[in-house]
Amino acid sequence: MRCLLIITLLFIQSADYFVYSRRLLFGRPIDKHGFLGLPRTTLKQSEIESIAKEQWFEQKLDHFDPTNLLTWKQRYFINDDMFNRSNTNSPIFLQLGGEGEASAVWLKEGQIATNYGPHYQALQILLEHRYYGQSRPTQDMSTENLKYLTSEQALQDAANFIEFINEKYGLNKHKWIVFGGSYSGSLAAWFRMKYPHLVAGAIASSAPVQAVLDFEDYLKVVDESLGKKCVREIKSATDDLTELIKSKNNWPVIEKKFKLCTPFNGTNSLDVSNFFGNLAGNFEGVVQYNKDNRAFEGGSSITIDDLCSVMTDLNSNINSTDRLAKVNQILLKSQSQECLEFKYDDYVKKMLVVDFDKTEVPSARQWVYQTCTEFGFYQTSDRNDQPFGHYFPLDFFIKQCIDIYGSEFNKNFLEKSIQFTNNFYGGYNLTVSNVMFINGLIDPWHALGILEDLNPTAKALVMKKTAHCADMYPDSSEDPSELKSTRNVIKQMIGKFIQ
Ligand SMILES: *[C@@H]1O[C@H](CO)[C@@H](O)[C@H](O)[C@H]1NC(C)=O
Ligand SMILES: *[C@@H]1O[C@H](CO)[C@@H](O)[C@H](O)[C@H]1NC(C)=O
Ligand SMILES: *[C@@H]1O[C@H](CO)[C@@H](O)[C@H](O)[C@H]1NC(C)=O
Ligand SMILES: *[C@@H]1O[C@H](CO)[C@@H](O)[C@H](O)[C@H]1NC(C)=O
Repeated sequence: MRCLLIITLLFIQSADYFVYSRRLLFGRPIDKHGFLGLPRTTLKQSEIESIAKEQWFEQKLDHFDPTNLLTWKQRYFINDDMFNRSNTNSPIFLQLGGEGEASAVWLKEGQIATNYGPHYQALQILLEHRYYGQSRPTQDMSTENLKYLTSEQALQDAANFIEFINEKYGLNKHKWIVFGGSYSGSLAAWFRMKYPHLVAGAIASSAPVQAVLDFEDYLKVVDESLGKKCVREIKSATDDLTELIKSKNNWPVIEKKFKLCTPFNGTNSLDVSNFFGNLAGNFEGVVQYNKDNRAFEGGSSITIDDLCSVMTDLNSNINSTDRLAKVNQILLKSQSQECLEFKYDDYVKKMLVVDFDKTEVPSARQWVYQTCTEFGFYQTSDRNDQPFGHYFPLDFFIKQCIDIYGSEFNKNFLEKSIQFTNNFYGGYNLTVSNVMFINGLIDPWHALGILEDLNPTAKALVMKKTAHCADMYPDSSEDPSELKSTRNVIKQMIGKFIQ
C-alpha cells in the first residue's frame, strides 16, 4: 500500500529512488501522482525480501461478467511475525495497495507495522492493486485492456482475496481491518461500505472520497498553506513571466534561468501550460508532503518554509522572477534532475507506451487512466484568486485524456464518469459504519475528504498542521503532539472495531 497515493495528480516526478526519471509534467512523482511512492528505506533488498516473500493469488479478470473465465496472478505479501493464531481476538490487518507498486516495507515500517500491528498481535497482509507493480491482469496497458482497471474491480479483488486467505489458513474466526492512504484510503472506506460482512472496520487516511472533474480547490489549499506573503511574491513572479514570454528575445533567458532541458518557445501553448504547471508543481509537492517524515519514503525534506523564505527574501537583490527560478533550482537539485522537462509532446509520447516493462513512467498510464474514467481530480488553474497563472485549465487535462487514450475520452465522457463514481459510492455522502477518516489541513486533498463525523461509528479526525497521510509514517522525533494523539485514537478505534 502506499499512501500513494494519490496524489496530485497528474503528474510526475520521480518516485523511484534508484533511477531518477525526469519530470515530465507538473513536477510530480512519476510513481506517486501525489500519493505515496515506493518506500525509501535503509533496508537492503535482501532484508526487504525477508520481511515477506511475494506470493501470488489467482484472481478473476472481470468480476462483473460471469461468463468471462479469464484469470491472472495478483501479488500479495504476508507478515505473520506478530500474529497470535491461537487467539481469535488477534485480527488481520489488510493494507490495500493503491496506484503504485506494493512494497513489503509497509509490513515492517510505518505505523501499522510498528504500532497497531504489534499491539493487537495482528496478521499483516499487503495486497497489490490490479495493474500496478507486478499485478498485471492483461498482457499490456492498451486502452482496450485497461477497461478492467476500475476501483470496483479492485474492491472485488480484495473481497475474493479475503475469502481465499480465510480458507487457506483457516482464519474464519479472526476479524479483518482494512487500511489505506490516499486513493487506497478511499478504497478502504468503500470496501467497508460494500463488504461489511468481510471486514470489521476501515482506517482511511487522507482519502479523497468525492470525485471531482475540476479540482480547482487544490490550489486554494496550497495557497492557504503557503501564506499570503509567499503567494503575493509568486503572483508577482508569474505576472512578470507572463510579460517576459511575450517577446522571443526573452526565451533563451527563460530557458537558462529555469534550467529547461530544451529551448523555450512561447508560441507553443501546450508547452507553456506545462511549464507553468511545473512551476506550480514545485510548490504543490512540497505543500502536500510538508514535514511528514516521508524521508522514509524517498521524499525530499524540503519544507514550505524553505521555499517561502526564498520567495519572500526581499533583502536579496534579485526580483521575484529570479527567486521563482531559484525555487525551481532547489527542487531540481533535490530530485537530482539536471534540467526541467516541459515538452507536452514528449510527455504524451511516454504515456502512450503500453508495455508494462518498457514504460519510463511506471504507474502513470494506469493512474491517469483512472482519473480519465473515474475520478478526474484535475488540479487546474481555474480558480481566480491563485498566483500561478491560468495556464492549465480543465481543457488542458481533458486534452491529455484524449491524446493518451483516444477521442472518446472527451469532456462529456469524463463528466458522466465522475457522476457515476459519486453516485456509486456516495461521494461526501457515503453511508458507512466503523470507518475512521483521518485528514491533515495542510494537505490539499483534505478538500475532498470527510472532515466531520458521519455517525457515531464513522468518525473524522482532523489535524491542523499535518500533510498527506502523515499518520501512516513511522514515528519521528519531530512529530507534533496532534499527530501522536491521532495515532493513539486510531489505535483505540481499531480495538473497538474488533471487539
Ligand atoms: C496467544 O494467545 C493465547 C490464547 O489467548 C495465549 O494463551 C498466549 O499467551 C498468546 N501468546 C502470546 C505470545 O501472546
Ligand atoms: C529580474 O532581474 C533579471 C536580472 O537579474 C532581469 O533579467 C529580469 O528582466 C528582471 N525581471 C523583471 C520583471 O524586472
Ligand atoms: C516557435 O514555434 C513556432 C510555431 O511552432 C515557429 O514558427 C517558430 O519558428 C518557433 N520559434 C523559435 C524561436 O523557435
Ligand atoms: C450529498 O448531499 C448533499 C445534501 O443533501 C447534496 O447536495 C449533494 O449533491 C450530495 N452529494 C452527492 C455526491 O450525492
